[in-house]
Amino acid sequence: MSNEAALDQNKESINIAIAGFGTVGSAVFNLLQDMSEEIERRLGESIRVVAVGARRSYPGVDFSGVQLERDVTKLALIPEVDIVLELMGGTDTAKELIIAAIANGKHVVTANKALLAEMGEEIFAAARQAGVVVAFEAAVAGGIPFIKALREGLAANRIDWLAGIINGTGNFILTEMLTGQRAFDEVLSEAQALGYAEADPTFDVEGIDAAHKLTLMAAIAFGIPLQYEKLTIEGISEVSLADIDYAEQLGFKIKHLGIAKRHENSVELRVHPTLIPKSSLLASVDGVMNAVMVQAHAVGPTLYYGAGAGGMATASAVVADVMDVVRQINLPKGSISAPLGYERVSASLPVMSKEEFLCAYYLRLSVADNTGALAKIATILSEAGIGIEAILQKETAGDHTPLVILTHLIEEASVKKAISVISQLPDVKAPIQMLRVDYLDKA
Ligand code: HSE
Repeated sequence: MSNEAALDQNKESINIAIAGFGTVGSAVFNLLQDMSEEIERRLGESIRVVAVGARRSYPGVDFSGVQLERDVTKLALIPEVDIVLELMGGTDTAKELIIAAIANGKHVVTANKALLAEMGEEIFAAARQAGVVVAFEAAVAGGIPFIKALREGLAANRIDWLAGIINGTGNFILTEMLTGQRAFDEVLSEAQALGYAEADPTFDVEGIDAAHKLTLMAAIAFGIPLQYEKLTIEGISEVSLADIDYAEQLGFKIKHLGIAKRHENSVELRVHPTLIPKSSLLASVDGVMNAVMVQAHAVGPTLYYGAGAGGMATASAVVADVMDVVRQINLPKGSISAPLGYERVSASLPVMSKEEFLCAYYLRLSVADNTGALAKIATILSEAGIGIEAILQKETAGDHTPLVILTHLIEEASVKKAISVISQLPDVKAPIQMLRVDYLDKA
């Protein structure tokens, strides 16, 4: 069948084009086929893939009736296409495709958190002007329908704070390091092989992917602009097996968290490895699973849990978005709602710098086994106004003793200053490890 004949035959359906045929694109293609009858029953009409854009061939896949394009941007020009699915990732071609699709009156579904976090304002503005939808459920927390929960389900609430494990690769690595007592690099390679990691895995391990997601979540939670560049971002690459084990002995697990808190006149947005009490619900979220806890004023705490990465889990969110768009297509023109859930965005809630917010800290030092060393460290902390919550001293290894200190809440600047003074002590071997502690439910 020629491409034209295939498109002609599809006139009575909603026609979609898929850009990108990697882990997510191919899973979406398969899920649409697998669920076609059920989707038609739910929507009252069918969805057909009429075009796929991919840079290479996929010999084993049955693409009959599907127009194949090497140049993905051409998908935006196919007249019969109603919805373009951008599942390639990256920010250059993906943006070009999305802007072209919007300009041609097509709705867009994307899983691209980097693009939306960094350039979402421009994309959403173009979409609203053109009267089309840009849906992005898969961009946050993989398969968990979290955006729908936050934007629609919690719409009557003031969100006080949310905290989430929102990078599957990072959580997989931390879990495997603890349970298998394995090294960081070895576990990262496994996450890449399983298709969880970003094309550039530094996005996962340096906290960038989680920061992209938190940017979107905070905009929806607080009605503020997308401000990726203002987040405090730290990854897990500096977390050692020793830290994971000491945290465990102190009653904590180390999780990479995205945290967004609303204060009266500002917001706190940060992603970093965090010691959380083993008794908290988030501490038992392991492997590639994601979870987000939301503290909202009317409903109280709610928790969302599910697969945060992987082809089919992400496809679940993408296909749900496609179905949502189909429902909106059938509404009267002009009834497209605000993509981030707020018709009026607030500019009066600035993002706090990391010097401003209070945290408790975990400090790991290596100290010479000399009488008085601990007393000197405690004095420096006390003079800096830093209270001590707990101390753990381990067996001496060689000529140094590992020492772990948990502090009370304090500003980061004070801790950094105290660390630099402690580092000068002849008894202390630099560098000193510093991680944050969050008791979550007590926040
Ligand atoms: N690399 C991401 C993760 C994929 O590991 O969570 C899903 O966004």
